[in-house]
Amino acid sequence: MSSFLKLFENKGDVEAQQFTALVLGVATLIIILLKMKLTRYPNLTKSFSSFPVLSTRVVASGGARPIVFITLGVSTKELPTGAHVKTRTVVDGKEVMRAYTPTKFTEGVCELMIRVYEEGPMSNYLYKLEKGDRVEMMGPTGLHRYGPTPGLFKNGKKEMRCRKIGMLAGGTGVTPMLQIMNSVLTNKSDATEIELVVFNTSAKDVMMYERLTQMADESKGQFKITFVVSKAVTADERKQLGGREYEVLSMRNMGKADILAKLGLKGEGAGPGEEVICMCGPDQFCKKIKGELKGMDNVLCW
Ligand SMILES: *[C@@H]1O[C@H](CO)[C@@H](O)[C@H](O)[C@H]1NC(C)=O
Ligand SMILES: *[C@@H]1O[C@H](CO)[C@@H](O)[C@H](O)[C@H]1NC(C)=O
Ligand SMILES: *[C@@H]1O[C@H](CO)[C@@H](O)[C@H](O)[C@H]1NC(C)=O
Repeated sequence: MSSFLKLFENKGDVEAQQFTALVLGVATLIIILLKMKLTRYPNLTKSFSSFPVLSTRVVASGGARPIVFITLGVSTKELPTGAHVKTRTVVDGKEVMRAYTPTKFTEGVCELMIRVYEEGPMSNYLYKLEKGDRVEMMGPTGLHRYGPTPGLFKNGKKEMRCRKIGMLAGGTGVTPMLQIMNSVLTNKSDATEIELVVFNTSAKDVMMYERLTQMADESKGQFKITFVVSKAVTADERKQLGGREYEVLSMRNMGKADILAKLGLKGEGAGPGEEVICMCGPDQFCKKIKGELKGMDNVLCW
């Protein structure tokens, strides 16, 4: 007791204590503020929550079907590879929902790439959003998953293994493929090879084009990409493509052998656990490929 009192007799000690208390108080306040900042966005859950729009960016606005990138604030740290998110809104009194695979999903930010279709109520709704607006979203949804074991896909309970992935993407169908590529190429211990054929990419979709070609260039051969366009590229577009090779071809005219050859796959000649084919794109595009690849049990469709 006496030593306790003595402590307070010494003025210097009291000042030091006050200073310590002040420092601790300020530090606690900073931690609380930081925590609030990190948790100010909702988590992604199986029921819809309202997420704030952080930014929007329109690319290819000259065309009839612009592409818009929207970033939303999320607190959830990651989305399982292969999963997507679902957005919801009400248009003319009718509920509209649509699934998107984020082109980016990190702590704090979910980026969606949307192609705006004249007759698409969801894409038109998202197109008109501005910073500060809110979007209803839930997830993760979808049955397909990739990893974390290299080369392992799951389709519900069914497992598929591979050493090489052949990917076919039509238009914005490239987004689920991008998500898998990110997962493979950012893991140094995942040596799974990827060969992607993108159909109908207009040279104007510069954002995605740059991201894809950069990934291919940095992958040292692990990831190969071919751009296929259905109409001849104009001189202007060729400049935007930076001299990269492309082919003028339509999925409509491709048979099974053509598809496998384009992907550099052996098809039925491959051993079990060697190859998986992933595809995503417009209904007609997927229907055509599924028809051609009928009977193969290593095909996944997003
Ligand atoms: C989101 O989830 C994390 C961890 O599960 C939790 O700590 C945090 O409070 C949640 N944030 C919100 C806004 O619900
Ligand atoms: C990377 O691959 C290893 C196996 O080679 C796996 O254990 C690990 O979980 C993977 N990491 C990620 C982030 O997927
Ligand atoms: C290619 O473009 C045409 C015309 O713009 C469109 O009708 C078609 O659905 C597109 N195909 C794919 C696979 O995106």
